[in-house]
Amino acid sequence: MTYAAPNSVQARDIASIVHPQTNLVKHLEQGPIVMERGQGCYVYDDHGRCFLDAAAGLWCASLGYASERLARVAYEQMRKLGYYHLYRGTTNETGVDLAERLLQIAPVPMSKVLFQCSGSEANDTAIKLVWYYHSAIGKPEKRKIIGRRMAYHGSTSASISASGKADMHADFGLPFPGFVHTEYPHYYRFHRDGETEEQFATRMAEALEALILREGPESCGAFIAEPVMGAGGGLTPPRSYWAKVQAVLHKYDMLFIADEVICGFGRTGNMWGSQTYELKPDMISCAKALSAGMQPISALLINQRVFRAMFDESRKLGNFAHGFTYAGHPVTTAVAMETLRIYEEMDMIGHVQRVGPYMQQVLAMFADHPLVGDVRGVGLLTGMEMVADKAMRAPFDPARNVGATVDKHARAHGLITRFIGDRIAFSPPLIVTEAEIDDIAARLGRALDDASAELRA
Ligand SMILES: Cc1ncc(COP(=O)(O)O)c(C=O)c1O
Repeated sequence: MTYAAPNSVQARDIASIVHPQTNLVKHLEQGPIVMERGQGCYVYDDHGRCFLDAAAGLWCASLGYASERLARVAYEQMRKLGYYHLYRGTTNETGVDLAERLLQIAPVPMSKVLFQCSGSEANDTAIKLVWYYHSAIGKPEKRKIIGRRMAYHGSTSASISASGKADMHADFGLPFPGFVHTEYPHYYRFHRDGETEEQFATRMAEALEALILREGPESCGAFIAEPVMGAGGGLTPPRSYWAKVQAVLHKYDMLFIADEVICGFGRTGNMWGSQTYELKPDMISCAKALSAGMQPISALLINQRVFRAMFDESRKLGNFAHGFTYAGHPVTTAVAMETLRIYEEMDMIGHVQRVGPYMQQVLAMFADHPLVGDVRGVGLLTGMEMVADKAMRAPFDPARNVGATVDKHARAHGLITRFIGDRIAFSPPLIVTEAEIDDIAARLGRALDDASAELRA
């Protein structure tokens, strides 16, 4: 970072901030990109360079990057009641409004809402409630949490333990004991020759059942999964996967936590991924688009079965001993409530149902590109996989960093995507238009060609 002026934001950044999910050595050498402002699906850096953000930040900027209307709501709420908590029976109206609304729109009957500030905390709370629930009903040994390889549920100690990301466990001494992981249901990469999606899904469900039997069904408390895997590569489930997996969970009386942190609020073309794939979870975690990414808020919806047990525990213990200072913060709930109003007024779900198929169709055309082996998606979420040999579905040597190479060229063409290994995920703001989807495709086409040329050289 020798080129950065001593008092520049870049120089001050490297002297002061540890960045999440960043190579700290490379960061010191390369310095940060400074984002200054945004409008719609576009963000601008401090050199005035414009990027079309096909990742919606971290899957969350559903309404784009600036909103006068949400700003006003936050401002008015800060003037009226800028903070209060929900501890010891205290409440406020915006929190109640939001909880009621979430229960109204829930994909399956849900009983109550717990607020937190992030997706990680919502999943962490869900995991604690699995333990609490089973203790309450007299099965305290039913504690193991089953996640999936490559899934991501957050960075707190428990939510990352439930995640199947080896790179995020390394040298943290995680996952904690009692967290186990079943197969990564990546049909394109792992199906056997001639195996249909349905047959593959059966194999995945059988692997889950075998894991439960190995661990002991009496010790398996819950399964946590995203309807569509986000940080696992923008990976849609193989046909019939969810019906088969849920049958296994039912057989062994396990709770099901649907992590809707990415899928919730329209991403898959319905309000919830659980509706797109007919999931019947006991708990649902949601965040991100809940507030259009403009306030840190998450919610955990729990069903009556779980709440009943918690209620009984209060009778026994005298308290529900769990909480966060900023849970149900009135500014976050007011902004989230207004976000849900905006979605309704704009008919956001209808919009995703209209433009989503267009995006899938446009991105599917890249399947002909020499680098691309697989393109699949749903709603406004698509995963695209780069391969060394299309006929053999042979991956590139990971050391060649093909995903990162495509990402580098995409940025050079003003396009932000999210790469996970050699898969690229697309999840633009939900307000994206067909013209902007064409713009994504144009920039991506140039990036893929440049990446091909670099990889051949
Ligand atoms: C599916 C899923 N769950 C949970 C999380 C964690 O959310 P947060 O970063 O708000 O803690 C993420 C973050 O990307 C996610 O994609």
